Amino acid sequence: MTLLELVDITASYGRIQVLESVSLAVPEGGAVGILGANGAGKTTTLRAISGTVRSTGTLRFDGKDLRGLRPDQVASLGIAHVPEGRGTLSDLTVRENLRIGAYKRKDRKAIQTDVDYCLDLFPQLQDRIRSNGSALSGGEQQMLAIARAIMARPRLLLLDEASLGLAPSTARAVYAAIRRLRTESGIAMLVVEQNANLAFTLVDTATVLETGRSVLTGSAAELKGMDEIRRAYLGG
Ligand SMILES: Nc1ncnc2c1ncn2[C@@H]1O[C@H](COP(=O)(O)OP(=O)(O)OP(=O)(O)O)[C@@H](O)[C@H]1O
Ligand SMILES: [Mg+2]
Repeated sequence: MTLLELVDITASYGRIQVLESVSLAVPEGGAVGILGANGAGKTTTLRAISGTVRSTGTLRFDGKDLRGLRPDQVASLGIAHVPEGRGTLSDLTVRENLRIGAYKRKDRKAIQTDVDYCLDLFPQLQDRIRSNGSALSGGEQQMLAIARAIMARPRLLLLDEASLGLAPSTARAVYAAIRRLRTESGIAMLVVEQNANLAFTLVDTATVLETGRSVLTGSAAELKGMDEIRRAYLGG
């Protein structure tokens, strides 16, 4: 069953239209990638979904129309957005960041279970549990941003450039944890990633954006086999 559906989405910043026609679908429990050059509109697509940018077109989550909803209303429906640049709260400790991820929840026991799960998924955070967000390395901040999103118990995770600026080994570790999360939780994922080699370790299908339009959608295997995809995104 389709969980998230975008059909012909447009979006603008002021008078500048940056999305012209974006269409994609994420099945329940599926993982879908968005590939595209700098400025293609990947981040804006995620913002349109999470309600931080206005859009036109069809935007449905679990059968509900998302357009016109505020970001907090979208989040309440079960969509967690891990933005480009992580967005962890630097004045709060790791533990406080995790608690904030669960601020809408009342199930205290389950919240503690989920904190323990996040610390098992990202053991480095366990060692930093009392550290302020600002004291964390880039990789630890990315892990915390993902963990905070998990704490909301979302049905769909929007991940923007989780590997950006990380050492290759750290980026691989982050993706290994995301793959594990996917297997264990069944959370659906929509993943923007410049590093297509890494993205293809996680996603089943991907959509390619060019200047605000979806131009191609295919399975990871199909896309990896295409010369133009290999040249543009896979380093040969
Ligand atoms: N806040 C903004 N105000 C005006 N224009 C913006 C704003 N944010 C992005 N843009 C422009 O919108 C277009 C799409 O940007 P977007 O950030 O969605 O691209 P992207 O595919 O995520 O790129 P990147 O790979 O660099 O992250 C670009 O031309 C960008 O310059
Ligand atoms: Mg971006």
